[in-house]
Amino acid sequence: PYPTYARLRREAPVYRSADGDFWALARHDDVSEAFRDNVRLSNSWGVSMDPLSYNENAEYAMSFLAMDDPRHLRLRKLVSKGFTPRRVSELAPRIQELTHQHWSRCLEMGEFDFVHDFAGLLPMDVVSELLGVGQSDRAHLRTQSDLLIHREEGVTDVPEAAIRAYVELHGFYTELLADRRKNPGDDLVSALIGAELAGDDGELTAMTDQEIIGFMMLMVVAGNETTTKLLANSVFWGHRSGGQVAGILDAVGAGADALEIVEDWVQETLRYDTSTQMLLRRVARDVEYGGRTIPAGDRVLLLIGSANRDEDVFGPDADQYRIGRDSSRTILSFGLGTHFCLGAHLARLETNIGLAEIARTVKSFEVDVAAAERVHSVNVRGFAALPMKVIA
Ligand code: HEM
Repeated sequence: PYPTYARLRREAPVYRSADGDFWALARHDDVSEAFRDNVRLSNSWGVSMDPLSYNENAEYAMSFLAMDDPRHLRLRKLVSKGFTPRRVSELAPRIQELTHQHWSRCLEMGEFDFVHDFAGLLPMDVVSELLGVGQSDRAHLRTQSDLLIHREEGVTDVPEAAIRAYVELHGFYTELLADRRKNPGDDLVSALIGAELAGDDGELTAMTDQEIIGFMMLMVVAGNETTTKLLANSVFWGHRSGGQVAGILDAVGAGADALEIVEDWVQETLRYDTSTQMLLRRVARDVEYGGRTIPAGDRVLLLIGSANRDEDVFGPDADQYRIGRDSSRTILSFGLGTHFCLGAHLARLETNIGLAEIARTVKSFEVDVAAAERVHSVNVRGFAALPMKVIA
């Protein structure tokens, strides 16, 4: 998509699709502005073109991603009381263990599919860990969450299997919540049950069951596939980085701190080829971009993937994968403003730990670029299969 993005930035930064179905913003300043404008641009119909998640009832899925302030902010504040930076940081040793388990199996094989055998496993395990889901249920949940997001190329209807998976996951989390109400523990769900916030009248309120389940579903949708794709995109571009990642592996071999040194690798992958390529907004009140008025009721795509390659922000080499460039404040991969990704810290932590484990254990790796398979998705970019081999 990147040549198309470049053309849009140059020729049609505020683009209207030929059938008038949607608009698209391609420049970094417009996309940033759109992320911040939660008054004229609404999340309440959902944020993806996918018909399962974009409809006038999206809000009722109880995912606060599909709500506007102040309803969104109330839930985000409540969730933030349980889903704290501390809880995430404390999970690091457990993420390290899970990483080690999955990666050891890969090392034994030597040749494997990085998505199937590693990147597709870790994020859902971490979400399950947070929610306190037992080991025996995890494989089933992972399958359901894969079915939930799987789409065939060219098919616009939501597959039956995705709807069934939604119902299945919803049922599972409903039971989990009921169990936690009876037997509270020190997991995130128990913390969410106990979270309270003073309303306008000063009365304390807590989350309803539907709101807690909505958040659990949101974690599966928002935190799972995105992180899987980031891991695999990092490995793919690492392989094609013209020796930059080989340099990282050598440095780690010579004693450099692996966790620290991989941060720039993750950061550049987030910029260069991010998992969430675009998000949708519905225009609540007429809004102007680049001198054109976008009327209330229309839909606007925020092209994150394009904004992240904007030459005006990242310079003339924006189209190059250059690990170590300074982009920490300017990438839009986790959004901006009131809906800024709540799991950004966790996503970085998981990916850093994953890549650091690779850097510590292999001398080199190679991706079979010709055999790599891309996913078909409305807004997610990454691989469904990424065959690779490692030399330990
Ligand atoms: C929101 C990206 C991982 C939880 C968002 C948004 C983006 C994003 C762009 C903003 C949506 C909008 O403005 O409409 C990513 C990427 C990830 C990632 C690229 C991985 C590489 C995670 C993880 C979790 C998570 C691991 C949690 C387990 C959330 C939640 C929201 C969100 C709860 C909604 C926040 C709100 O509406 O206030 N994410 N995310 N994400 N993300 Fe992430």
